[in-house]
Amino acid sequence: MAVVGIVPAAGSGERLGASGPKAFVTCAGKPLLDWSLGALAEVCERVVVALPPEVDADGPDRIAGGASRSESVALALAAAPEAEIVVVHDAARPLVTAPTVRRCIEALDDGFDGAIAAARMTDTVKQAAADGRITATLDRSKLWRAQTPQVFRADVLRNALQVAPDVLAAATDDALLVEEGGGRVCVVEAPLENIKVTHPIDLVLAEALLRSR
Ligand code: CTP
Ligand code: MG
Repeated sequence: MAVVGIVPAAGSGERLGASGPKAFVTCAGKPLLDWSLGALAEVCERVVVALPPEVDADGPDRIAGGASRSESVALALAAAPEAEIVVVHDAARPLVTAPTVRRCIEALDDGFDGAIAAARMTDTVKQAAADGRITATLDRSKLWRAQTPQVFRADVLRNALQVAPDVLAAATDDALLVEEGGGRVCVVEAPLENIKVTHPIDLVLAEALLRSR
């Protein structure tokens, strides 16, 4: 099976607030993006990267990203027509490891269309109304925090991405689109260190974790 990696790296990183796009911010001695590329290269035959507008997208396996994350994923997937298994992984998660990617791929053998890295909820989760009043306490034992890598049968992901532009733009991950199209997606418990760099504090933590390896 042809396994192709897709790395959406085209975001601006507004919440991180760095002087340039987040994927190119230095973390533990190299650009954030390079950590993910290293792990995916161990498992994937090739890795297509969606880049932000200010970065030159000339070159093999480099494409210009879209206006939303899902659009960037769709554009990158269009550049990988040979893919049979797709590993989507955000440049914002530099602590991904090859074993985690492999465990997600192996989960497809159980008949799933997709398998995503995820973490169990450790906090108690409240639902609240606009005025702050709590309306429900959710059953934490059934809740997971979705991460990447998210691995899919390529035909299923291609179909799932064929939705209206507003639906595509609103999707916060790829699994959601596959689930809504009737696909079966499972969670794969990921190591605690597979954090996402969103805010400045995450970059401090990612740097410390990478240096302690
Ligand atoms: N991404 C992308 N194309 C976009 C928007 C986001 O490829 N149009 C990528 C980001 O580069 C990142 C991943 O999707 O690797 C997850 O997005 P997020 O963490 O939200 O990154 P940014 O969108 O860059 O950050 P922010 O939302 O704070 O601006
Ligand atoms: Mg974003």
